[in-house]
Amino acid sequence: MKRIGMLTSGGDCQALNAAMRGVVKCLSCSGEAVEIYGFLEGYKGLIYGDFRMLTGADFSGILTKGGTILGSSRTPFKLMREPDENGLDKVEAMKQNYYKLKLDCLVILGGNGTHKTANLLRGEGLNVVTLPKTIDNDLWGTDMTFGFQSAVDIATDCIDCIHTTAASHGRIFIVEVMGHKVGWLTLNAGMAGGADIILIPEIPYDINKIIEAINARAERGSKFTIMAVAEGAISKEDAKLSKKEYKEKMKNYPYPSVSYEIADKIQKKTGLDVRVTVPGHTQRGGSPCPYDRVFATRLGAEAGKMILNGEYGFMVGYKNREVIKVPLEEVAGKLKMVSPDATIVQEAKLTGISFGD
Ligand code: F6P
Repeated sequence: MKRIGMLTSGGDCQALNAAMRGVVKCLSCSGEAVEIYGFLEGYKGLIYGDFRMLTGADFSGILTKGGTILGSSRTPFKLMREPDENGLDKVEAMKQNYYKLKLDCLVILGGNGTHKTANLLRGEGLNVVTLPKTIDNDLWGTDMTFGFQSAVDIATDCIDCIHTTAASHGRIFIVEVMGHKVGWLTLNAGMAGGADIILIPEIPYDINKIIEAINARAERGSKFTIMAVAEGAISKEDAKLSKKEYKEKMKNYPYPSVSYEIADKIQKKTGLDVRVTVPGHTQRGGSPCPYDRVFATRLGAEAGKMILNGEYGFMVGYKNREVIKVPLEEVAGKLKMVSPDATIVQEAKLTGISFGD
């Protein structure tokens, strides 16, 4: 008999349900008796003992369902060691709930912050297996996270729609893409949507280079320009500021987000008409794309196999088209960023895409 605790933490994404289903299908197909304790709303459920016993029926029909059947929440890692408002020691509470339910292991699905806490729990002696979810694709130790491809599809659809109206009106259009501090989503959706300019956090931009690219297109007869701008895009000047100086500057930031700042600067410097579209959380919503359904099922099945073998302390990752095990202590606290020298960036530049650098 295996007693498994399961939780989904952090911002949700597509294919969380598909991954959990993969784990449970693998365990039930093995013939081993299993009890699944689903902790609700991420680590909160584990801290406060808020769980639901789940049966095979809970995992039936959820392969295609977006969101997470367990709910999710953000429980910042930096606050994990601090007592809650009632003085409760959160780490101790999680351990007690784990031992009280006599769990064999925890299956934790999450992104960067989630992995820091998962590694903390591993360090505290709990058996943990994790699965890499996030539309940002910024988890270290894996080439791909589930949710990413689905989000690329949605952001690309958005750029496609903007393309037709941009062509009719001869304007500059900015589509602001999620991705937190990294540019994977913007780079891929930008290339897939045929964006003319792609701005990512890893390559700070110069507003004059952006305007040069717009003018060069106009000289070639293109009346419109499509820009895919990462929500974390940063100018060359701002990239030079210290963390403290940048924070100070952002206190009086007059724009809703970076795209509006860029739009304002282009408009003022050129007089051109600029429009901003922010697809926002739609990028995390809806059904997982077929790629993510397959990918999450594969990772889930491998997690199930690891549990059956009693292999704990790993994230199930994906490298060079192989599913692999990555020690949690190697994953926690690291960010996988786009290298400005990456071949994909060079190839994008070869096709005339400007990165504003
Ligand atoms: O990490 C996933 C993500 O969607 C990021 O791309 C984005 O910056 C962030 O979450 C948004 O967070 P929230 O849902 O808390 O607003």
